[in-house]
Amino acid sequence: MSDFVRIVEVGPRDGLQNEKTIIATADKIALIDRLSQTGLRSIEATSFVSPKWVPQLADAAEVFAGIQRKPGVGYPVLVPNEKGYERARAAGAEEVAVFTAASEAFNRHNINADIDESIQRFRPVLERARTDGVKVRGYVSTVLGCPYQGQVPLADVVRVARQLHELGCYEISLGDTIGVGTPHQARAMLQAVAGEVPLPALAVHFHDTYGQALANILACLESGVRVVDSAVSGTGGCPYAKGASGNVASEDVVYLLHGLGMATGIDLPLLSQTGQWLAQLLGRETGSKVGKAMASA
Ligand code: HMG
Ligand code: MG
Repeated sequence: MSDFVRIVEVGPRDGLQNEKTIIATADKIALIDRLSQTGLRSIEATSFVSPKWVPQLADAAEVFAGIQRKPGVGYPVLVPNEKGYERARAAGAEEVAVFTAASEAFNRHNINADIDESIQRFRPVLERARTDGVKVRGYVSTVLGCPYQGQVPLADVVRVARQLHELGCYEISLGDTIGVGTPHQARAMLQAVAGEVPLPALAVHFHDTYGQALANILACLESGVRVVDSAVSGTGGCPYAKGASGNVASEDVVYLLHGLGMATGIDLPLLSQTGQWLAQLLGRETGSKVGKAMASA
């Protein structure tokens, strides 16, 4: 099993989609450009969703047009439907991510569709992407609990992940959207999905509401996962998931991985400085413990 872990930095999308104050387009561009210098290989840049639903990312096209795309770095963007795909392509995106959930109730709140409807919406996106040579990532939300439904049966998580994989998503990111899971649950969930979708095609995406994210990541690493989503400075949360707090901080994940002797290709001091810069921009303390420790060292 490889010791390289790819971090998918979701701060510019998952982080900024939930901020009360909308930051300037130029600052979003500056954030992504700074992240591009840290050694990250995947930076989720923005979201081509309805601006009525997520006004924070209404400037997606301007942001995407403004960034300096670094060779070797992927810049996926979220698309909920064909319209989003067309907007993303017009802006120059070469990788997109579709998203659904294992919980019907959450999906209704988040994308105004049930699970099957959402999969039907993705079909034409995947077909066009295949023709266009565009890579498609898939998200399954609420894999360890739902803010509306409560418990989510493992069988539902497995089924939705398998459907996205069969549809042609090259990677499936398993999201604990409201950060309620604990390590043994996380491991059992990952192992159940890995029974149907090859492990190298799986990623984990933990929010840190109950402070369990790093422990959950460790449990999943021990089960062989090698792709981890996180957000610099620990920003994040889904506006349609009541009680969801920030993503696990990228700085904290990188520190953990390097401490375990695993490679990420990421310059941690530079990432940490970027997290501090973002926290200042947002007018608050960084949500990264490592970021805080490194700033005061
Ligand atoms: P709807 O209102 O049911 O859609 O929303 P509709 O098809 O009836 O269209 C309504 C209006 O939106 C129309 O405009 C459409 O043209 C427009 P109008 O005629 O009223 O002027 N529209 C669009 N505009 C721009 N871009 C588009 C688009 N599509 C339709 N792509 C819809 C359905 C899916 C659009 C909406 O519910 C939506 O945008 N939801 C997105 C919610 C969201 O972004 N949530 C956060 C991301 S998911 C997440 O954070 C979880 C994750 O991090 C993993 C985890 O943590 O678990 C990924
Ligand atoms: Mg998320």
